Amino acid sequence: MSKIKDYIEKHKDRFVDELIDLLKIPSISADPSYSKDVLNCANAVAKSIKSAGADNVEICETAGYPVVYAEKIIDPNLPTVLIYGHYDVQPADPLDLWESGPFDPVIKATKTHPSGAIFARGACDDKGQFYMHVKAFELMNNLDKLTCNIKFMIEGEEEVGSENLSSFVKENKDKLQSDAILISDTGIIANDTPSITTGLKGLSYLEVEITGPNRDLHSGLYGGAVANPINILCEMISKMKNENNQIAIPGFYDKVQILSDEERADIARAPFSLKKYKQALDLSDIHGEKGFTTMERTGIRPTLDVNGIWGGYTGEGAKTVIPSKAFAKISMRLVPNQSDEEITQLFTDYFLKIAPKSVTVKVKPHHGGEPYVSPTDIPAYKAASLAMQTTYGKTPVPVRSGGSIPIVALFEKELGVKSILLGFGLDSDAIHSPNEHYGIFNYLKGIETISHFFQNYAELLSSK
Ligand code: BES
Ligand code: MN
Ligand code: MN
Repeated sequence: MSKIKDYIEKHKDRFVDELIDLLKIPSISADPSYSKDVLNCANAVAKSIKSAGADNVEICETAGYPVVYAEKIIDPNLPTVLIYGHYDVQPADPLDLWESGPFDPVIKATKTHPSGAIFARGACDDKGQFYMHVKAFELMNNLDKLTCNIKFMIEGEEEVGSENLSSFVKENKDKLQSDAILISDTGIIANDTPSITTGLKGLSYLEVEITGPNRDLHSGLYGGAVANPINILCEMISKMKNENNQIAIPGFYDKVQILSDEERADIARAPFSLKKYKQALDLSDIHGEKGFTTMERTGIRPTLDVNGIWGGYTGEGAKTVIPSKAFAKISMRLVPNQSDEEITQLFTDYFLKIAPKSVTVKVKPHHGGEPYVSPTDIPAYKAASLAMQTTYGKTPVPVRSGGSIPIVALFEKELGVKSILLGFGLDSDAIHSPNEHYGIFNYLKGIETISHFFQNYAELLSSK
């Protein structure tokens, strides 16, 4: 058995216990009532990276939650890998759908994880995944096998849009200087089908507010005579797409790259079963843009979705009322060449244009981010691919994801460094949902694969 595997076998219980301790901290960045916990979590992360063997560990203040930075510089002439991850998590609600406490981690076997998974908010997104890097670093450092420099940058605001991270990156370019950025905050196709994420979508997220009458009204006395903001909002939302499920905002697709037949054939090569996809979600049919496959819809086509809609009376029983206001939160996922600022503007123009005079409309942009595509012909990708080849016995498939990590495009723009998205989660791990979990197999396999990445990357660069 290799020394890497040996080390993992010997220390795996401790690796799991340490992750469980981290998962007990409710570091919910969206909810200010958890701010102490988020700060505690930053401290815990800093401590764990320090005890793994890093030299300069800092908790860097930002206008929001701090960034944990750490480094191990073996030799400035060696290549440097910057590891990015996030210690903040999504809110846990709806709480009543959790089978165990979201911050009370338990290990249970599932269909996709017969050897056990850790159930807790953040188990997969992203505590379990960034912690694999801390352990891979510990392992390589203790085995004296580290032949590249390592920097860590673990932030606490990813789940709320990383708004303060861009100035941190701009102000710390020297500190973050590196040859490649390695991130585990995505997934693989299946535990027997390794893959590497080669694309992330951009994002435009906004909130709309429709106002009708100046107060809630009796729906009998006024019904049919004044605009009902909820009815109007629904009509306006239905105008966002046409009968082919294409987005109807003028100019929306203007800059979208059209893929060649070859590129589409590449996408179709990734293993995918529509039957299993539907089964996993209890769906009798799928739904999406005409002319594209499911993998294309999620990977390379832009989308628009309502994330939440509210207004009027939603309590027990019935209340006859025409509400004064209605609201919705809407996200658009963007693909290469679409700029989030431009798309936010196009949405706003169109939304205001289709509003009837009987209501007033406000559009409030939340956060955004640009899309990212990772090349497959650079040393860092090759090092990741080779690492998976070693640990899974199969060459990983490149896959474009529908998810977003806005800071990745900014890393490229500000630092000029490409990121490799070497994630190990499964779609069934329920990130952002009740009962989020992360397979212990995936956790340990990730630690092993990342260790090989460090080794491969240093070797590939030094043999150039
Ligand atoms: N880790 C996810 C993104 C992700 C998950 C990408 C799986 C690919 C596969 C990240 O934490 C996330 O949730 N991002 C948000 C965007 C953010 C601005 C709130 C998203 O994609 O909704
Ligand atoms: Mn994440
Ligand atoms: Mn997330």
